[in-house]
Amino acid sequence: MSSQIFRSVARSAKAGLSASRSSSVGQGRAFTAAAATMISSRGKSNYFASFFDRAGSGKPLMGWLSSAMAVPAAVYMLQDQELHAAEMERTFIAIKPDGVQRGLISEIISRFERKGFKLVAIKLVIPSKDFAEKHYHDLKERPFFNGLCEFLSSGPVLAMVWEGEGVIKYGRKLIGATDPQKSEPGTIRGDLAVVVGRNIIHGSDGPETAKDEIGLWFNPNELVSYASNAEKWVYGVN
Ligand code: RTP
Ligand code: MG
Repeated sequence: MSSQIFRSVARSAKAGLSASRSSSVGQGRAFTAAAATMISSRGKSNYFASFFDRAGSGKPLMGWLSSAMAVPAAVYMLQDQELHAAEMERTFIAIKPDGVQRGLISEIISRFERKGFKLVAIKLVIPSKDFAEKHYHDLKERPFFNGLCEFLSSGPVLAMVWEGEGVIKYGRKLIGATDPQKSEPGTIRGDLAVVVGRNIIHGSDGPETAKDEIGLWFNPNELVSYASNAEKWVYGVN
Protein backbone atom coordinates (compact mmCIF):
# COMPACT_ATOMS: atom_id res chain seq x y z
CA MET A 1 0.00 0.00 0.00
CA SER A 2 1.46 3.40 -0.91
CA SER A 3 1.99 5.75 2.01
CA GLN A 4 -0.70 8.13 0.69
CA ILE A 5 -3.35 5.41 0.60
CA PHE A 6 -2.04 4.24 3.94
CA ARG A 7 -2.55 7.70 5.44
CA SER A 8 -6.01 8.09 3.99
CA VAL A 9 -7.08 4.69 5.34
CA ALA A 10 -5.64 5.68 8.69
CA ARG A 11 -7.52 9.00 8.63
CA SER A 12 -10.83 7.40 7.72
CA ALA A 13 -10.46 4.86 10.48
CA LYS A 14 -9.53 7.65 12.89
CA ALA A 15 -12.69 9.55 11.95
CA GLY A 16 -14.66 6.40 12.70
CA LEU A 17 -12.92 6.04 16.02
CA SER A 18 -13.77 9.63 16.98
CA ALA A 19 -17.40 9.04 16.07
CA SER A 20 -17.55 5.96 18.27
CA ARG A 21 -15.99 7.92 21.12
CA SER A 22 -18.51 10.72 20.98
CA SER A 23 -21.30 8.16 21.25
CA SER A 24 -19.74 6.41 24.23
CA VAL A 25 -16.75 7.79 26.10
CA GLY A 26 -16.51 4.72 28.29
CA GLN A 27 -16.34 2.35 25.35
CA GLY A 28 -13.71 4.50 23.62
CA ARG A 29 -11.45 4.32 26.65
CA ALA A 30 -11.86 0.60 27.11
CA PHE A 31 -11.05 0.14 23.46
CA THR A 32 -7.88 2.26 23.74
CA ALA A 33 -6.58 0.00 26.49
CA ALA A 34 -7.50 -3.11 24.54
CA ALA A 35 -5.92 -1.88 21.32
CA ALA A 36 -2.72 -1.02 23.16
CA THR A 37 -2.60 -4.60 24.41
CA MET A 38 -3.14 -5.80 20.87
CA ILE A 39 -0.26 -3.69 19.56
CA SER A 40 2.03 -5.02 22.25
CA SER A 41 1.15 -8.61 21.45
CA ARG A 42 1.58 -8.26 17.69
CA GLY A 43 3.06 -11.44 16.27
CA LYS A 44 1.40 -13.69 18.83
CA SER A 45 -1.24 -16.06 17.47
CA ASN A 46 -4.15 -15.09 19.73
CA TYR A 47 -4.54 -11.31 19.98
CA PHE A 48 -7.89 -11.33 21.68
CA ALA A 49 -7.66 -14.07 24.29
CA SER A 50 -6.45 -11.87 27.11
CA PHE A 51 -8.53 -8.73 26.57
CA PHE A 52 -10.29 -7.55 29.70
CA ASP A 53 -11.82 -4.22 30.56
CA ARG A 54 -9.92 -1.57 32.52
CA ALA A 55 -12.08 -1.77 35.61
CA GLY A 56 -10.68 -5.24 36.18
CA SER A 57 -14.09 -6.90 36.16
CA GLY A 58 -12.52 -9.78 34.27
CA LYS A 59 -15.25 -9.51 31.66
CA PRO A 60 -13.78 -10.31 28.25
CA LEU A 61 -14.08 -7.60 25.61
CA MET A 62 -14.41 -10.14 22.79
CA GLY A 63 -18.01 -9.21 22.02
CA TRP A 64 -17.21 -5.53 22.00
CA LEU A 65 -14.15 -5.94 19.83
CA SER A 66 -16.00 -7.91 17.21
CA SER A 67 -18.39 -4.97 16.66
CA ALA A 68 -18.22 -3.28 13.24
CA MET A 69 -16.15 -0.38 14.64
CA ALA A 70 -13.50 -2.23 16.60
CA VAL A 71 -11.40 -3.90 13.92
CA PRO A 72 -10.94 -0.91 11.57
CA ALA A 73 -10.09 1.25 14.57
CA ALA A 74 -7.60 -1.31 15.86
CA VAL A 75 -6.03 -1.49 12.42
CA TYR A 76 -5.81 2.29 12.46
CA MET A 77 -3.97 2.25 15.78
CA LEU A 78 -1.48 -0.33 14.52
CA GLN A 79 -0.88 1.63 11.33
CA ASP A 80 -0.71 4.91 13.19
CA GLN A 81 2.04 3.54 15.42
CA GLU A 82 4.03 2.44 12.37
CA LEU A 83 3.53 5.82 10.70
CA HIS A 84 4.59 7.53 13.90
CA ALA A 85 7.83 5.55 14.03
CA ALA A 86 8.54 6.26 10.35
CA GLU A 87 8.18 10.01 10.79
CA MET A 88 9.95 10.35 14.12
CA GLU A 89 12.47 13.16 14.44
CA ARG A 90 16.14 12.52 15.23
CA THR A 91 18.89 14.68 16.68
CA PHE A 92 22.63 14.41 17.21
CA ILE A 93 23.81 14.66 20.81
CA ALA A 94 27.46 14.42 21.90
CA ILE A 95 28.97 14.30 25.35
CA LYS A 96 32.18 16.28 24.96
CA PRO A 97 35.54 15.18 26.46
CA ASP A 98 34.87 17.10 29.70
CA GLY A 99 31.54 15.29 30.24
CA VAL A 100 33.10 11.89 29.52
CA GLN A 101 36.11 12.52 31.77
CA ARG A 102 33.90 13.75 34.61
CA GLY A 103 31.90 10.53 34.57
CA LEU A 104 28.65 12.16 33.45
CA ILE A 105 27.71 9.72 30.67
CA SER A 106 25.06 7.81 32.58
CA GLU A 107 23.65 10.98 34.18
CA ILE A 108 23.20 12.61 30.77
CA ILE A 109 21.86 9.52 29.00
CA SER A 110 19.35 8.97 31.79
CA ARG A 111 17.89 12.45 31.35
CA PHE A 112 17.11 11.78 27.67
CA GLU A 113 15.93 8.25 28.42
CA ARG A 114 13.67 9.25 31.32
CA LYS A 115 12.06 11.95 29.22
CA GLY A 116 10.88 9.25 26.81
CA PHE A 117 13.30 9.77 23.94
CA LYS A 118 14.80 6.71 22.26
CA LEU A 119 18.50 6.04 21.70
CA VAL A 120 19.09 4.87 18.12
CA ALA A 121 22.89 5.16 17.78
CA ILE A 122 25.83 5.48 20.16
CA LYS A 123 29.64 5.26 19.96
CA LEU A 124 32.70 6.52 21.79
CA VAL A 125 35.25 8.20 19.51
CA ILE A 126 38.23 10.51 19.67
CA PRO A 127 37.62 12.85 16.74
CA SER A 128 40.57 14.32 14.84
CA LYS A 129 40.98 18.09 14.85
CA ASP A 130 40.05 18.06 11.19
CA PHE A 131 36.81 16.27 12.02
CA ALA A 132 36.07 18.68 14.89
CA GLU A 133 36.51 21.58 12.45
CA LYS A 134 33.97 19.97 10.13
CA HIS A 135 31.54 19.55 13.00
CA TYR A 136 31.87 23.19 14.11
CA HIS A 137 32.35 24.62 10.58
CA ASP A 138 29.68 27.31 11.12
CA LEU A 139 31.78 28.81 13.93
CA LYS A 140 35.05 29.09 11.98
CA GLU A 141 35.04 32.91 12.10
CA ARG A 142 34.69 32.97 15.89
CA PRO A 143 37.77 33.73 18.02
CA PHE A 144 37.32 30.55 20.08
CA PHE A 145 37.05 28.25 17.02
CA ASN A 146 40.59 26.86 17.18
CA GLY A 147 40.49 26.24 20.94
CA LEU A 148 37.04 24.68 20.67
CA CYS A 149 38.18 22.24 17.97
CA GLU A 150 41.39 21.45 19.87
CA PHE A 151 39.26 20.67 22.90
CA LEU A 152 36.68 18.54 21.09
CA SER A 153 39.48 16.44 19.64
CA SER A 154 41.40 16.18 22.93
CA GLY A 155 39.69 13.03 24.19
CA PRO A 156 36.77 10.64 23.92
CA VAL A 157 33.43 12.02 22.78
CA LEU A 158 30.25 10.00 23.23
CA ALA A 159 28.33 10.46 19.98
CA MET A 160 24.62 9.61 20.00
CA VAL A 161 21.46 9.89 17.97
CA TRP A 162 18.21 10.29 19.90
CA GLU A 163 14.76 9.92 18.42
CA GLY A 164 11.37 11.25 19.49
CA GLU A 165 8.65 13.76 18.86
CA GLY A 166 10.18 17.24 19.06
CA VAL A 167 13.53 15.81 20.14
CA ILE A 168 15.64 18.48 18.37
CA LYS A 169 14.07 21.45 20.14
CA TYR A 170 13.36 19.70 23.43
CA GLY A 171 16.83 18.16 23.46
CA ARG A 172 18.20 21.72 23.48
CA LYS A 173 15.88 22.52 26.40
CA LEU A 174 17.19 19.54 28.35
CA ILE A 175 20.74 20.72 27.59
CA GLY A 176 20.19 24.37 28.60
CA ALA A 177 21.76 27.64 27.47
CA THR A 178 25.24 27.59 25.89
CA ASP A 179 26.78 29.44 28.83
CA PRO A 180 26.23 27.37 32.01
CA GLN A 181 26.15 30.62 34.00
CA LYS A 182 22.91 31.35 32.17
CA SER A 183 21.50 27.81 31.97
CA GLU A 184 18.49 27.21 34.16
CA PRO A 185 18.85 24.83 37.12
CA GLY A 186 17.32 21.52 36.10
CA THR A 187 19.03 21.57 32.71
CA ILE A 188 22.13 19.48 32.00
CA ARG A 189 24.47 22.47 31.70
CA GLY A 190 22.67 24.30 34.53
CA ASP A 191 23.14 21.40 36.91
CA LEU A 192 26.47 19.98 35.78
CA ALA A 193 28.68 22.67 34.23
CA VAL A 194 30.10 26.06 35.21
CA VAL A 195 31.80 27.74 32.22
CA VAL A 196 31.05 28.00 28.50
CA GLY A 197 34.38 26.45 27.44
CA ARG A 198 33.52 23.25 29.37
CA ASN A 199 29.78 22.94 28.87
CA ILE A 200 29.97 19.12 28.55
CA ILE A 201 27.39 18.47 25.83
CA HIS A 202 26.47 19.33 22.27
CA GLY A 203 23.02 19.16 20.68
CA SER A 204 21.93 19.90 17.10
CA ASP A 205 20.23 23.29 16.85
CA GLY A 206 17.72 22.56 14.06
CA PRO A 207 16.45 19.95 11.58
CA GLU A 208 19.07 20.73 8.89
CA THR A 209 21.94 20.70 11.38
CA ALA A 210 20.63 17.47 12.90
CA LYS A 211 20.58 15.79 9.48
CA ASP A 212 24.08 17.04 8.62
CA GLU A 213 25.57 16.13 12.01
CA ILE A 214 24.04 12.65 12.08
CA GLY A 215 25.47 12.12 8.57
CA LEU A 216 28.89 13.40 9.64
CA TRP A 217 29.22 11.26 12.78
CA PHE A 218 27.42 8.07 11.75
CA ASN A 219 27.19 5.70 8.81
CA PRO A 220 23.56 4.91 7.95
CA ASN A 221 24.06 1.28 9.07
CA GLU A 222 24.99 2.48 12.58
CA LEU A 223 21.48 3.88 13.11
CA VAL A 224 19.21 1.27 14.63
CA SER A 225 15.49 1.51 13.85
CA TYR A 226 13.42 -0.46 16.32
CA ALA A 227 10.09 -0.32 18.10
CA SER A 228 10.52 0.46 21.77
CA ASN A 229 8.13 -1.29 24.14
CA ALA A 230 7.76 2.01 26.01
CA GLU A 231 6.41 3.87 22.97
CA LYS A 232 2.80 2.92 23.51
CA TRP A 233 3.06 4.49 26.97
CA VAL A 234 5.06 7.55 25.89
CA TYR A 235 2.78 8.45 22.93
CA GLY A 236 -0.98 8.51 22.80
CA VAL A 237 -3.97 10.73 22.25
CA ASN A 238 -6.87 10.79 24.71
P1 RTP B 1 26.83 23.20 20.94
O1 RTP B 1 26.88 23.51 19.45
O2 RTP B 1 28.14 22.69 21.48
O3 RTP B 1 25.66 22.36 21.30
O4 RTP B 1 26.60 24.57 21.71
P2 RTP B 1 25.55 25.69 21.40
O5 RTP B 1 24.78 25.37 20.16
O6 RTP B 1 24.78 25.91 22.67
O7 RTP B 1 26.47 26.96 21.14
P3 RTP B 1 27.29 27.35 19.83
O8 RTP B 1 27.10 28.81 19.61
O9 RTP B 1 26.99 26.43 18.71
O10 RTP B 1 28.78 27.14 20.31
C1 RTP B 1 29.42 25.91 20.19
C2 RTP B 1 30.32 25.72 21.38
O11 RTP B 1 31.37 26.68 21.34
C3 RTP B 1 31.77 26.97 22.66
N1 RTP B 1 31.67 28.40 22.86
N2 RTP B 1 32.59 29.10 23.44
N3 RTP B 1 34.13 31.26 24.43
C4 RTP B 1 32.90 31.47 24.04
O12 RTP B 1 32.38 32.53 24.16
C5 RTP B 1 32.16 30.35 23.47
N4 RTP B 1 30.98 30.44 22.89
C6 RTP B 1 30.66 29.18 22.50
C7 RTP B 1 30.86 26.23 23.60
O13 RTP B 1 31.52 25.01 23.96
C8 RTP B 1 29.67 25.92 22.73
O14 RTP B 1 28.99 24.79 23.20
MG1 MG C 1 25.72 24.82 18.34
